[in-house]
Formats: sequence, C-alpha cells, structure tokens
Amino acid sequence: MNAAPATSIVAAEGVARHYRLARTSLFGPRRHLTALRGVDLAVPPGDRVGVVGESGSGKSTLARILLGLERPDEGRVTYGGQDLARAAERDLAGLRRDVQIVFQDPMGSLDPRLTVADIVREPLRALRIETDHDARLAELLDAVRLGPEAASRYPHEFSGGQRQRIAIARALAPRPRVLVADEPVSALDVSVRAQILNLLADLRDAYDLALVLISHDLAVVRHVCDRVLVMHLGEVVEEGPTERLFTDPQHPYTRALLQAIPTIGGGLPAAPLAADDPPSPTELPVGCAYASRCPHVFDRCHAERPPLAGPSERDAGIDTAAQRAACHLAFSGALPPFDRQAAAAGRHATAPEGRPATAPEGRPATPPEGRPATPPEGAPATPPEGGPATPPEQDR
Ligand SMILES: Nc1ncnc2c1ncn2[C@@H]1O[C@H](COP(=O)(O)OP(=O)(O)O)[C@@H](O)[C@H]1O
Ligand code: SF4
Ligand SMILES: [Mg+2]
Repeated sequence: MNAAPATSIVAAEGVARHYRLARTSLFGPRRHLTALRGVDLAVPPGDRVGVVGESGSGKSTLARILLGLERPDEGRVTYGGQDLARAAERDLAGLRRDVQIVFQDPMGSLDPRLTVADIVREPLRALRIETDHDARLAELLDAVRLGPEAASRYPHEFSGGQRQRIAIARALAPRPRVLVADEPVSALDVSVRAQILNLLADLRDAYDLALVLISHDLAVVRHVCDRVLVMHLGEVVEEGPTERLFTDPQHPYTRALLQAIPTIGGGLPAAPLAADDPPSPTELPVGCAYASRCPHVFDRCHAERPPLAGPSERDAGIDTAAQRAACHLAFSGALPPFDRQAAAAGRHATAPEGRPATAPEGRPATPPEGRPATPPEGAPATPPEGGPATPPEQDR
C-alpha cells in the first residue's frame, strides 16, 4: 500500500472489496467475489485521472468506495488525509461535499417527479449549504449550457445528452473539488458523447476541478485526462501519464485495450481482445491474473503475482507521476515493440462496441486543438439551448 500524499482531496489506499455471494446449495461453501484488491488512487487538487478497464474490472466499485457509498474490506479512503471510516458523523457531510459523482444513466439517476430546478438545488438543501439557491441554479444551468427555461421542465422532456448536463449541474451544485464521472458518455450517441466530454473538459478548467473519469474506452479518457489507471479484475495493472500509456504501454492488457479501440474511416480494424479465458473473480490465481489471456506468459507468471512497479522506483523511491505496470516483463525490453501505428489510429476514436466514430457534416473527427468533435449548434444531436426535448430515439 502506498500512503497517499496528505494534500490529496480524496485517496484510496490499499483498498480491497470482497462481495459475499449466495451459496449455490444449502451446505455448499460460502463464496466471495473479489471486486478490488490492493488499489491505490490519490487525487490531488486539479488532477485529471482516467480509470479504464473492461466491464467487471472494478471501476464502479472503486467509484462507490471513493464516494463513501461503500466501505472497503481492506485499506482505507481518506478525504484531505482524514480516514473516512473514522470521521465523526457531524464532519461527514462537509467532507462528502468535496467529492460528487455523475453516473452513466442520466435518466436513472434523476428523479422523474422533480423539475430541473429542484434536482439541481437538492444537494444544496441536503448539505445545508447557505447560498442563494436560485442564483446558484442559474449559474449552473448556464455553466452546463442549458438555458434558464430548463429550470421548470422535467427530466423526461430532455434528450439523453441534456439529461447528462442536468446530472452534471446537480453534481457541481455543492462546489465539489473532485467530480467522479462513471461512464458518463457510454449511454449517449457518439456525437453527443463528444459534446459532454468537451463540457467536462471546460468545467474542469473553469472550476479547477479534479476529475476521475471512468470509462471502458481508453479513447474517451485520452482527451480529458492527464494520467490513466488501467484496471483488470480488480487490480490496477498499469498507470502513468496518458501519452506514455498510449505510446509506450508496458502491460500486455493495456496493449490489448489500445488495439481494441475502433478506428475512423475503416483504416485499421479494431483488434478484439485476445481469445479469452479470464479467471473467475471468485477464484483468482496465485500469480498474474492476466496469465490465462496473455500472449507473453511464462512460468514465473503462474507462480508470482507481479507488483505494480516502474523503473524509477528502483532508483529514487515512488514517483506517482511515473509510469508503473504490474507485469514481470514491464520495462525490461523483453516485450516486443508496441504497434504504435495501431495506437495512433485509435487516437481520435470515441466509439466503443465496434462502432466507428462519426464526424458530423464532414468535419474532421477531432478539431485542431485535439478535442473531440462537437456538432455545430442546432445540429440534430443538440436541441436548442434549454429547448424542448429531442425525441430520445434521435439522441441515443
Ligand atoms: N453488490 C455486488 N455483489 C456481488 N458482486 C458485485 C456487486 N457489485 C459488483 N460486483 C462484481 O464486482 C465486480 C466488479 O464490478 P464493477 O465494479 O461494477 O465493475 P465495472 O464497473 O468495471 O464494470 C464484477 O465481477 C461484479 O459482478
Ligand atoms: S506477468 Fe506474465 S502473464 Fe502477466 S502480463 Fe506480464 S507477461 Fe503476461
Ligand atoms: Mg461500471
């Protein structure tokens, strides 16, 4: 476990989470599923960190634990260096105010009986934040680019992208210092995804927000995050500065994820993840949990679990900015050179599930400044600001 710097707004230190599963028979053994093990993640002010991995790798469990919605079975979560599990009840609301979350499904996370005004003001009431609630509402609707007329409408009157803007406005209401976004664009149409990612990047800068952006798609985090954690079966298997991970990934799993990013215009085909035999999270192996999927596996991998380590640690102690990988072959030069062309081809794509990213109206998919493409205002994917809902089927 790495002790998080005291300056971190929120940190997970050596966090493990095991879920108890129901017995399959009356006298059968009690089974446990390991959703997280040995996870360290420190979020200092202004940090922009991506958390990526396939479905089931533990990303949402980590988000819930960071938010204090679930307690870890091992390790601890600290807010400003203070152990969340030991914080006095009266301090919790103040601590929790600093960390807010946006979920994948904006419809499911918004109360359909409340107006947008009530939804956005609700955390101000719940956390007893003394400020002019109406003024804050107006500021937030403007910040997420919904007009003031949105305030009196209900969630079902909005498109998917607009609903996610409402969810973001609500999350920002208490002026958090960290926003955790769990698959915030996965449920949205490709062109709407780009708008929401651009909005998150703008808000990040405007409010000096730290951001934990969770996605199963590495391409989504590339534009927004300065560093990335790659998760596999509950473990962080690689972490480092975003560009280093894209150009010189040291873990075979990171390489497989990068090669699975779809490409634009049919250039390079997206390679599927290797023919897979992932271990069950209820029976993790002694050695490397990626061994049954890894094209580079050798004897030691089955016997010894590789630690998350980087070359700098051998010389100069732990450098949190450095790249680290949990692979016996990382940084050794023994892995073949990474196919940089395939990684570069994935740079601008934001379309998981085998769908190519589409650029509206013949524009390049990525504008020169390197941000994901956003359709022009008033294009079908974006109803007029605060305007009536686009029928959901057009926006999803
Ligand atoms: N409440 C729960 N009870 C049992 N297993 C769970 C529970 N929540 C998550 N899991 C399991 O934990 C693992 C990690 O899940 P999750 O954190 O949702 O992954 P991700 O968000 O990366 O898809 C998965 O195997 C999932 O089935
Ligand atoms: S430790 Fe071995 S099995 Fe695991 S990723 Fe590295 S080479 Fe592959
Ligand atoms: Mg999830």
